[in-house]
Amino acid sequence: MRRPFIAGNWKMNLDRAGAVELASAIAAKAADYGHVELAVFPPTIYIEAVRDAVAGTPLGYGAQNVYFEPKGAFTGETSTAMLIDLGCDYVILGHSERRHILGETDAEVNQKVHAALAAKLVPIVCVGELLAEREAGTTGDVIRRQFDGSLAGLSAEQMQQVVIAYEPVWAIGTGKVATPEQAEEVHKDLRKIMADRYNITVAEAVRIQYGGSVKASNAAEILAQENVDGALVGGASLQADEFLGIVACVSR
Ligand code: PGA
Repeated sequence: MRRPFIAGNWKMNLDRAGAVELASAIAAKAADYGHVELAVFPPTIYIEAVRDAVAGTPLGYGAQNVYFEPKGAFTGETSTAMLIDLGCDYVILGHSERRHILGETDAEVNQKVHAALAAKLVPIVCVGELLAEREAGTTGDVIRRQFDGSLAGLSAEQMQQVVIAYEPVWAIGTGKVATPEQAEEVHKDLRKIMADRYNITVAEAVRIQYGGSVKASNAAEILAQENVDGALVGGASLQADEFLGIVACVSR
């Protein structure tokens, strides 16, 4: 059984007080949803404040990115050891905003995945097609290319530590959510890729979140899909009630 996992990606939003308030409000209710793994991803600069706000609760937290080198002259970057030092359990890697705005490549994402796993951080690895790619009918090819590039060189055991987030780029922050059928089709495809590259055990074990305009009013249908194991939520994760409304859609 794959444990459902709902994650809130706060992106570059909130100030310190707002981050503490939001984390505290979600943490206060987290114990009501013991069947769901819950985590928030604050801006790196506020991780420590969030750590203190969620201490002693089941709400997990992590970073939105990390660098693959262990230390040195990499101005502006953060290492896996620094995230571990702050008590992070997770790191989001290869988010479409990093791929398409900040120019991150599959090869870089792959280096980060290896660094995260070596540090015992759970990587949430994002894949997803652009609108033009969907319209051209190349979604499957794009997903395969991103999977093979971003997750190259992982053992079957390592692969099972990874969480994949399928986030169609055209659905992120646009209010255009993929239909449950569109999401399920790609999630199923991802499981097939894992069965081909590894084996059926790996394919069945790895959790695949859907991301892209998920909110409390549309979450139930998407989360009900057989191969959707949770959600990576952006905008709707910035309000505790809305985020918890999504969590409440996960069936027990
Ligand atoms: P959104 O973002 O929920 O605001 O569409 C999702 C994401 O980017 O992870």
